[in-house]
Amino acid sequence: MTLDLVVSRLRAAGCVFAEDEARLLVDAAGTPADLAALVDRRVAGLPLEHVLGWAAFLDLRIAVDPGVFVPRRRTEFLATRAIDLASPGAVVVDLCCGTGAVGAAIAAAVPGIRLSAADVEPAAVRCARRNLTGPVYEGDLYAALPASLRGRVDVLVANAPYVPSDAVDLMPPEARLHEPLVALDGGPDGLAVLRRVVADAPSWLAQGGHLLFETSARQAEAAVEAVHAAGLTPSTASDSELATTVVIGSRP
Ligand SMILES: C[S@@+](CC[C@H](N)C(=O)[O-])C[C@H]1O[C@@H](n2cnc3c(N)ncnc32)[C@H](O)[C@@H]1O
Repeated sequence: MTLDLVVSRLRAAGCVFAEDEARLLVDAAGTPADLAALVDRRVAGLPLEHVLGWAAFLDLRIAVDPGVFVPRRRTEFLATRAIDLASPGAVVVDLCCGTGAVGAAIAAAVPGIRLSAADVEPAAVRCARRNLTGPVYEGDLYAALPASLRGRVDVLVANAPYVPSDAVDLMPPEARLHEPLVALDGGPDGLAVLRRVVADAPSWLAQGGHLLFETSARQAEAAVEAVHAAGLTPSTASDSELATTVVIGSRP
């Protein structure tokens, strides 16, 4: 199959960035049969990253297994804020880690961090273990972490699900059909999991430590209130181009 034919098949299937995707698929395919199979899977609606088996995240190539949440470009903003706050040697936790993209980005940028990660979803845990050298635990939020981390975490980053339940059906099919609901659904107002993350964060943070998470602009005010109510000092950072807000809670 020629590059032009791949482009026209992808375009006909509704891929907006057909040329870029075609080049990536051609590069990834070892043989013409491989290429045909990759194009078929993409045309059938699988996310490009699931077809390729990787996603670009900051300067990294992150392995993405089938059925695992695909790290989003907007989350690079969260990772960059975490990098800014992490000192060399810091104790860092990537909670709700998915592929582990955020933790991997911090580890690549800040020397000597001691990184742990956790997720409730077994496929995500397996995938994160491919991307991270530190331990990756399986379980519900903090219950997955070893007690020895309590009170010692300098940077706690949690890109938890924050889509309101009734908005999940409005998401693009790539997300709705190929990413697990547990990775998307944040409860009635989207903040159900994040409220639990915030409420217990103070007992895991070291003095002067920071909790960071992503929300939509609309959710930021309620999220800041939750951070304040937990006894952390709230602040926010936004990026209009990436359409994302990061809420930070700092332990005094
Ligand atoms: C929006 S995805 C983000 C994944 C990754 N942090 C990223 O930025 O690409 C949310 C992740 O939270 C995990 N998750 C949802 N509820 C959880 C819980 N109660 N405990 C631990 N992980 C949870 C999901 O399995 C999913 O991997």
